[in-house]
Amino acid sequence: MAKIAVVGVGPGGKEHLTPAAIRAVAEADVLVGGERSLALFSGQPGEIFTIKNNLQEMIEYIRERMDEKKIAVIASGDPGMYGILQYLRRHFTPAQLQVIPGISSVQYACARLAVSWHDAVVVSTHGRDRTVLAETVAGNSKVVVLAGPEEPPPVLASVLVNAGMKDKTAYVCAELSYPAEEINAFTILDLARWEGQWDKRNYVMVILDEQPMDLPDTGNKR
Ligand SMILES: C[S@@+](CC[C@H](N)C(=O)[O-])C[C@H]1O[C@@H](n2cnc3c(N)ncnc32)[C@H](O)[C@@H]1O
Repeated sequence: MAKIAVVGVGPGGKEHLTPAAIRAVAEADVLVGGERSLALFSGQPGEIFTIKNNLQEMIEYIRERMDEKKIAVIASGDPGMYGILQYLRRHFTPAQLQVIPGISSVQYACARLAVSWHDAVVVSTHGRDRTVLAETVAGNSKVVVLAGPEEPPPVLASVLVNAGMKDKTAYVCAELSYPAEEINAFTILDLARWEGQWDKRNYVMVILDEQPMDLPDTGNKR
């Protein structure tokens, strides 16, 4: 039975690609992925399908080729953490998929902060009701929030302040593993009031019920 490789490529920096991911991509005839992940393999010969609001088309594209060609679907971070895996599982059986794990942005952010993550609750705000965010942060002492460029950190912090939270510490961890990586600590209230220009594309926010700690040396800071 033809297998589709579902390859986690980590947070974005090349040095966080695993050898298994590099091998799976090198062996593929066809690469399927978002622009940011594809950019990691820009010299790769073969066919490319770029994912952008065309998931149904992607499934048809894969089905038409999977018996003849080796297909690798590449995904940022780990494919199973708010990634493409869930969607692929609606269309393909586990036997048709070979998942290669990657370093998730959640793992990477927690590593940067030197905090464990087995006890963290992870939420995504992409296209989701923000009351879920407020309820999750209210009910948990360690929350990792996956958020996008259309949701600047002060906007999400304001949702939390409006729900009665202001003293927790929010670590805003942006462009992880890239040269522009930036990690900054705020209280939720200070973050809601922050008026700086937000120009980062990807970030995760780690929210803890504790005073801000001295950050490990994480490179860039505002
Ligand atoms: C669709 S989710 C995919 C998550 C991915 N599967 C993972 O395990 O990291 C995309 C979100 O992951 C987070 N993310 C991915 N790469 C990141 C990076 N390099 N720096 C900060 N956040 C990142 C951001 O919250 C982004 O909006």
